[in-house]
Amino acid sequence: MDKLKIVRSSEKYAVSYCETFDRVAREGKFLSISGGYPLEDIIGFIRACRECGYPQFLLIAPDSRAVGWCDIVRRVDEPDDVGYLGVGIDKPYRGAGWGSRLMTAAIDDAKKCGFNEIRLEVRASNYNAIRTYTRLGFVKISYTSDGVVTDGVAEDIWTMSFMCRRLEPEGFDRERFFGRFGKIDFKKLIKEESHQ
Ligand SMILES: CC(C)(COP(=O)(O)OP(=O)(O)OC[C@H]1O[C@@H](n2cnc3c(N)ncnc32)[C@H](O)[C@@H]1OP(=O)(O)O)[C@@H](O)C(=O)NCCC(=O)NCCS
Repeated sequence: MDKLKIVRSSEKYAVSYCETFDRVAREGKFLSISGGYPLEDIIGFIRACRECGYPQFLLIAPDSRAVGWCDIVRRVDEPDDVGYLGVGIDKPYRGAGWGSRLMTAAIDDAKKCGFNEIRLEVRASNYNAIRTYTRLGFVKISYTSDGVVTDGVAEDIWTMSFMCRRLEPEGFDRERFFGRFGKIDFKKLIKEESHQ
C-alpha cells in the first residue's frame, strides 16, 4: 500500500481510470450511476478538466493503474465559485487513508483555482464516506429525499459543503465595517470581570 502515489490526471491513465470507475459504479451502492462511461467520454473529461484548470487527481498503483480518482468541477446553473467534488477508490485500496489524501490534494488545488466553496452529494446510507467527509471539514447543508435514482431504486442524499474561504458580499469594505466597532480588549475585560 505504501507504493501508491497521487498524480495529476492524464490521458495515459484513461483506460484503468475508466475500468476502476466502472467497477465502483457497478457496486451499485455509492455513485449516481450503476455502470461506467465509455472510454472516449473519460478521455474527454480528463481533457476538459485540464483545459478548464479543474483539480483532477488519480491514485496510481505500483503497476501504473489508476485505482482511484478525485475531481472538482463547476456545474451548469451553479455559482462560478462553487465546485462539485467526485471521488472513488477501488475496493482493495479503501480504508487506508488514500481517499482522504486524494481529496486533500484536490481541495488544496481548488483553493488555488479560485473556488470559494466545494460541495458534494452523498447517499444517506454511505456512512463511511460521510464520516470521511466530516473529518475533512465538510458539513451537511441539505437533505433531498429520493435525490438519486439508480436502476429504478430511489435513495435520499445529503449535500455537504466545505468552505474554502470566508465569503463577503461584493464591494464589502471590511475595514470600514468592522472599524466602526473599535477594538475590545478581552484580556482587560476578563480581568475586570474577575475583580467584580
Ligand atoms: C469514500 C472513499 C472515497 C473514502 O476513501 P478511503 O480511502 O476509503 O478513505 P480513508 O481511508 O481516508 O477513510 C475512510 C474511513 O473509513 C474507515 N474504513 C475502514 N475500512 C474501510 C473500508 N473497507 N472501506 C471504506 N472505509 C473504511 C477508515 O478507517 C476511515 O475511518 P475514519 O474516517 O474514522 O478515520 C472510499 O471509501 C470509496 O471510494 N468508497 C466507494 C465509492 C464512494 O463511496 N464514493 C463517494 C461517493 S459520494
